[in-house]
Amino acid sequence: MSDCPVLVEMRGIVKRYPGVVANDHVDFTLCSGEIHGLLGENGAGKTTLMSILYGSVKPDAGTILVGGSEYKPRSPRDALKRGIVMVHQHFKLVETLTVLDNIVLAARGAGLGYSRAELRERLARVSERYGLYVDPDARVWQLSASEKQKVELARALVLDARILILDEPTTVLAPSEVEGLFDLIRAMKRDGRSIVFITHRLGEALAVCDRITVLRKGRVAGVIDLSRERATPTMLTRIMFGEEPPPPPVRRERRRGRRVLLVEDLWVRGNRGHWAVRAVSFNLFEGEILGIAGVAGNGQLELVEAIVGLRRPERGRILIDGFDATGASARVLVDEGVAYIPEDRVGMGVVPGLTVAENTVLRGYWRRGFYERGVIRWPAVERHAERIVKEFDVKVGSVSFPVETLSGGNIQRLIVGREISLGPRILVAYNPTSGLDARAAAFIRRELAAMADEGAAIILVSEDLDEILMLSDRVGVMYKGVLLGPLTREEASREKVGYMMATGTGV
Ligand SMILES: Nc1ncnc2c1ncn2[C@@H]1O[C@H](COP(=O)(O)OP(=O)(O)O)[C@@H](O)[C@H]1O
Ligand SMILES: [Mg+2]
Repeated sequence: MSDCPVLVEMRGIVKRYPGVVANDHVDFTLCSGEIHGLLGENGAGKTTLMSILYGSVKPDAGTILVGGSEYKPRSPRDALKRGIVMVHQHFKLVETLTVLDNIVLAARGAGLGYSRAELRERLARVSERYGLYVDPDARVWQLSASEKQKVELARALVLDARILILDEPTTVLAPSEVEGLFDLIRAMKRDGRSIVFITHRLGEALAVCDRITVLRKGRVAGVIDLSRERATPTMLTRIMFGEEPPPPPVRRERRRGRRVLLVEDLWVRGNRGHWAVRAVSFNLFEGEILGIAGVAGNGQLELVEAIVGLRRPERGRILIDGFDATGASARVLVDEGVAYIPEDRVGMGVVPGLTVAENTVLRGYWRRGFYERGVIRWPAVERHAERIVKEFDVKVGSVSFPVETLSGGNIQRLIVGREISLGPRILVAYNPTSGLDARAAAFIRRELAAMADEGAAIILVSEDLDEILMLSDRVGVMYKGVLLGPLTREEASREKVGYMMATGTGV
């Protein structure tokens, strides 16, 4: 046991959601002036536990003490009164307001009596002290993801947070920006603040934390005090997964075939009317996986949407085996053999309210066999769905259940199964494993590798650089709408690609 000065003590925390116990009698202590890692794979219950501390989620059971006295927050406002602030994975800033307005809003919401001028002054001081330079008069939508993170951190400090909870803060950063964040976390610690650093990356936890609590499937799997024990990645992996992690995908070496896709001088606008994709050109060949890395928000989504027919390019050409597919509809592109695995599973991927079976023919229902003389042939659809469920190991009682009864991992297996069953020439996958547990992620990666081995051409867009490097034959980087590279597999080292992600140069 640790004898550090306990600041927060959470005991026996339970939180149930339909079908899952997100926190199952979790004990957690945070000491004064420590950097405490909360480590676990996706779905382990990290965000839930800290949302309970932050007052945005109500526990079903358990008690919390802060500074020795009982603490039962009814909202984040109560948390702030105790000096607790959480910086979320998805930022909570008002995009149309300026940086300063966002801070004023938060201060008012928390009932703090600072004037606008005082807040401006405090922001300047915080920026100076921590090297967190943000323009107080910039509008939030103009900022990059890493700048928005700086705004959230600066806001927490302006509001005098003593306990900062950072939820997966490195996911919006390029690898080279991570060390800067760690320096900032260390500086906050030197000033006597306490930090909870949530991550699913064990290397990061080992790099910056004093202690680590590991969650596995909603329970505490271990607490490690790094000042007393040596911890290795292997040891942490075992605590995180409870067993050996699933095997990585294997790509058979394979010569690439004919060119199936040519994208030439493509320009695409984003939702705000700005150029999200600028003059992008590349080739894609049979049997290859082209990885596209990049920090979120650099035009990857708009590029992909143009290719799969969900967004009209303004300029340029998309040729599929010589067929001019520029601006073609998603339906035409399905017929041309383009499949799409989106990140937004419920919304783009499946339609809630429809059954599992109906969802398996959403794309391609007009194809022969399912649709004859204006009627859908349900027995054929059900047989098709049952085949996908079996082959892709989708856990569901019956294909006539509503699709929203499936877990995220099973919905993703269903989408991957559906898209692969279209027999695509080109598969576009956008963050296909985000939010999945390790086993489901490994399964999807093996399917992608197998498809490429069978001759499909795959575009893999992912914010997970390790996933890109593991699977891709060539690696490009999207940076401010421009596609850098692609590099060959041999050229694409972690350092090189990471540098390109952060700076937009370095080829
Ligand atoms: N609002 C919610 N409604 C239903 N299920 C949820 C909700 N929030 C989290 N869960 C579920 O609780 C589990 C833990 O989630 P979470 O705390 O977000 O994990 P982590 O942050 O470690 O990835 C997951 O199975 C997730 O699907
Ligand atoms: Mg989380």
